[in-house]
Amino acid sequence: MNKKIAVLPGDGIGPEIIEQAVKALQAIEKKFNHSFEYNYGLIGAAAIDKLGNPYPDDTHTLCSNSDAILFGAIGDPKYDNDPSAKVRPEQGLLKMRSNLGLYANIRPVKSYDALIEASPLKNDRIKNADFVVVRELISGIYFGKPRGRSEDNTIAYDTCVYTREEILRITEKAFQFAKNRKKKVTLLDKANVLATSRLWRETVTEYAKQFPDIELECNFIDSAAMEVITKPTKFDVILTENLFGDIISDEASVITGSLGMLPSASLGNKVSLYEPIHGSYPQAAGKNIANPMATILSAALLLEYSFGLLEESKTIVNAVERAMNEGIVTEDINNGKYSTSAVGDKIVEYILN
Ligand code: IPM
Ligand code: MN
Repeated sequence: MNKKIAVLPGDGIGPEIIEQAVKALQAIEKKFNHSFEYNYGLIGAAAIDKLGNPYPDDTHTLCSNSDAILFGAIGDPKYDNDPSAKVRPEQGLLKMRSNLGLYANIRPVKSYDALIEASPLKNDRIKNADFVVVRELISGIYFGKPRGRSEDNTIAYDTCVYTREEILRITEKAFQFAKNRKKKVTLLDKANVLATSRLWRETVTEYAKQFPDIELECNFIDSAAMEVITKPTKFDVILTENLFGDIISDEASVITGSLGMLPSASLGNKVSLYEPIHGSYPQAAGKNIANPMATILSAALLLEYSFGLLEESKTIVNAVERAMNEGIVTEDINNGKYSTSAVGDKIVEYILN
């Protein structure tokens, strides 16, 4: 198979973790006789520094003309500590998601037996937890208008807007996932307070009627925030809006034991993007200590969802799990002794053998 992959390393640890994921993909090319072309683009603080724009047109063109996008991380503390900064790295990510129509963010969460001790949660609670968060990614309070400040600067506002159509397309995705999993969708909302949540609940409940074999449960986000770490095994597919999904997926990462383990896919109708859910971890940048597994697992999702290469994808997942089982891990997991590149090298070795 011949495919073009846009590679956007981004900021902080982005370049070093992306390097490991590209190594893993190259090993897959070799083992399964595929040919992937990697074209690199700028995004985030790296793009602001060079071009003054966190999502340059060239990057957009590159992404639009690729079969899939592999993305590292975004964010730089020099902007976080400057509330007056006009351009921020994160705007690049939001603009890319929106311009490429990446409406469905898929974040699988599971507890790995080898890492169960790495989680601060009680083992018996998290054992066998395995669910996927399906987060709406290009609407809601992240993008709603109006947003901004009053003229005298004493009032600030953001607006949460959802259309039925936006809710429906992400609901379809969630039900597709549920069909191939344990056949349960849990909608998380705040329908006791928010008008948008009531539209979500109405739309999703109506849609679910076509699928009597899929169980639909509607929960409030606040109590679900508790259940996601006290009873994580009750979830199969979590369907939710942009902001709730952002928060609940970081919380859910505690189950896995390290934020460095969670991959994600952002699916659109044309091209899709794959990235670890963690950020740019600037304190670790350039030190060769960051966990590359989430990014490598994101490459596995890329092979599965964008290219339909199931065996290849499974080969990467198995190699990562083998590394975990054999203690080939970075310091974030059980005080692992391996560097970013050493973990990447081992995973490459396991893919090839
Ligand atoms: C994420 C991140 C982003 C978000 C930031 C970096 C804009 O936290 O992908 O979850 O809030 O969506
Ligand atoms: Mn987030």
